[in-house]
Amino acid sequence: MANQLLAGKKGIIFGALNSKSIAWKVAEKAVAEGAQIVLTNAPIAVRMGEIQELSTKLNAPVIAADATSVEDLENLFSEAQKMLGGKIDFVLHSIGMSPNVRKERSYDDLNYDFLSKTLDISAISFHKMLQVAKKQDAIAQGGSVVALTYIAAQRTFVGYSDMADAKALLESITRSFGCIYGQEKGVRINTISQSPTMTTAGSGVGGFNLFFDVAEKMSPLGNADADDCADYCVVMFSDYTRKVTMQNLYNDGGFSNTGMSLDAMNQYMKSFEK
Ligand SMILES: NC(=O)c1ccc[n+]([C@@H]2O[C@H](COP(=O)([O-])OP(=O)(O)OC[C@H]3O[C@@H](n4cnc5c(N)ncnc54)[C@H](O)[C@@H]3O)[C@@H](O)[C@H]2O)c1
Repeated sequence: MANQLLAGKKGIIFGALNSKSIAWKVAEKAVAEGAQIVLTNAPIAVRMGEIQELSTKLNAPVIAADATSVEDLENLFSEAQKMLGGKIDFVLHSIGMSPNVRKERSYDDLNYDFLSKTLDISAISFHKMLQVAKKQDAIAQGGSVVALTYIAAQRTFVGYSDMADAKALLESITRSFGCIYGQEKGVRINTISQSPTMTTAGSGVGGFNLFFDVAEKMSPLGNADADDCADYCVVMFSDYTRKVTMQNLYNDGGFSNTGMSLDAMNQYMKSFEK
């Protein structure tokens, strides 16, 4: 049910690849809440993915940009302001990729060229987009920027490999840039730490189905899905969170504060009974 929480606001959504993408749901909800948006993704994803379908559905233009390219980001922010007719009120960074994870390199056997790519795509791209936006003064006073992260930044999860380091860096950039951008321009920057979610990036992590199932059992409210995440993003983009910045916000059904849940205990008991 839409409440026009984003009426009159202009946003840029990074990372909608297909209808499973978290960014896809965020784009749909932002528009339903009254926002006007520009969609963006890497050139190859724009060519191969389903973003044109979303663009037509939401009447939202697409501007291709490799989030690791400062030049592409400069073009994106200046073109988006022209297309939307003014400064940007909200930005979603929903980007993650690790060649080490894709090629199943374990954490004690990383390829360092791959590691550089992981960090550049999944974390430093966030710094690049913030720096470009700030230099262009592209984000309006009181604007809101959200990046998506995972609890592997705080605790170790087998198989998440160098993406854990990327998420730790992403959350650090959120605090460091949030301090400067908040002070100078009143722009808020936060991360939302999302439950395991069935998407292309998510299911690329080895043993993802187990990750998903364990988290489901260890979360008193169950896993948050992509729709839940989109709802949280809308609230963070809205004027109802004007003083929230530099935070890592868990959207995980309570997983992050649970030591042992009843469901997990019951599952464990079953293995004893055998
Ligand atoms: N799925 C999960 O379990 C889960 C859990 C917590 C956090 N997250 C995070 O949510 C975000 C979105 O992932 P998703 O699960 O929706 O998967 P997804 O595969 O749908 O989205 C990842 C996106 O990153 C884009 N991307 C990759 N390289 C890029 C580049 N160089 N420039 C621009 N875009 C690029 C891809 O094209 C894709 O659209 C990621 O940051 C991911 O780490 C996902």
